[in-house]
Amino acid sequence: MANKKISVIGAGAVGASVAQVLAIKDLGDIYIFDIVEDIAAGKALDIQEGAPHWGFNSKLKGFCTKDEKEYENMKGSDVIIVTAGLARKPGMSRDDLLIKNVGIMKDVGEKIKKYSPDSIIITVTNPADIMAYVIQKASGIDPSRIIGLGGSLDSTRFRTFLAEELDVAVQDVNAFVIGGHGDDMVPFIRYSNVSGIPISDLLSEEKIEEIVKRTRFGGGEIVNFYKTGSAFYAPSISITVMAESILKNQKRVIPCAAYLTGKHAEHYGISNMFIGVPIKICENGVEEIYDLKMNEGDKKLWENSVNSVKNNCKIADDFLAGKLN
Ligand code: APR
Repeated sequence: MANKKISVIGAGAVGASVAQVLAIKDLGDIYIFDIVEDIAAGKALDIQEGAPHWGFNSKLKGFCTKDEKEYENMKGSDVIIVTAGLARKPGMSRDDLLIKNVGIMKDVGEKIKKYSPDSIIITVTNPADIMAYVIQKASGIDPSRIIGLGGSLDSTRFRTFLAEELDVAVQDVNAFVIGGHGDDMVPFIRYSNVSGIPISDLLSEEKIEEIVKRTRFGGGEIVNFYKTGSAFYAPSISITVMAESILKNQKRVIPCAAYLTGKHAEHYGISNMFIGVPIKICENGVEEIYDLKMNEGDKKLWENSVNSVKNNCKIADDFLAGKLN
């Protein structure tokens, strides 16, 4: 049977790192694309040369998209992972990247439409929920085939901090984060537990609040260490689990940015946009969206996050309509 085909757009810190994790897990052949000359080819070869030690069969190739035709190599991808664009520096929020990355996403979305419109797309470039929205508009792809990174990464940070505080195996910590992948994301405390024991039975309110705060600014904490860029190790495995669920039709349930319409839009108070909610991920993309029951406290936090996503989509729309510089 032929290997699956995965395209990674952007060969920077996140793109190269996710390409290596995909290869180590032997999930398919990996085609890397970057606008900067030779970088994608170099990263592909460097990762490929580790194959004898890692024992993977994935084949990696890199292409420079300065010549648009190179995007033809993306044709027939099972999954396309979009990481092209600017990353944060200290003092910047993900939203500060918005205007800079919208133009890049429009371009990438149009190339996906032209060269590989039947793929499932994972958007990683930040702010991820808004970039998913722009890619969908530019590509015209059925929104259920587009999934944004967010909760998958934020939840792995939340679980890590909880496990550290409780001194328990991280595998036993079930906790997740919904909402936009921004500073007002919503760690969902009431459904978070350690092997079924609610975290509110194990930790004081103050301690939980401290961990929630650290989770919200988890990306910024890493930016403050790196100074010249943002996180890529935890993102690369968080993206890989999403890709693996698509490639193997695993039906994993992971909070990610999904497009809400109909009854889900009504339930969550946001329509025709992407925002982080628990979804079932299968070979066709989003197979199911779960409508979480929220109490008044949850609703307040959720609405804040919804408003940020709505405002940012409006900014993206204005930019695309030429109303902003
Ligand atoms: N087409 C293809 N590649 C592009 C384009 C484009 N139009 N524009 C930029 N790139 C490439 C850059 O040349 C660079 O190699 O995207 C890569 C980005 O790499 P980094 O600067 O290292 O950024 P990285 O840390 O990988 O983050 C990328 O993912 O997590 C998010 O917030 C992060 O938005 C950022 C994105």
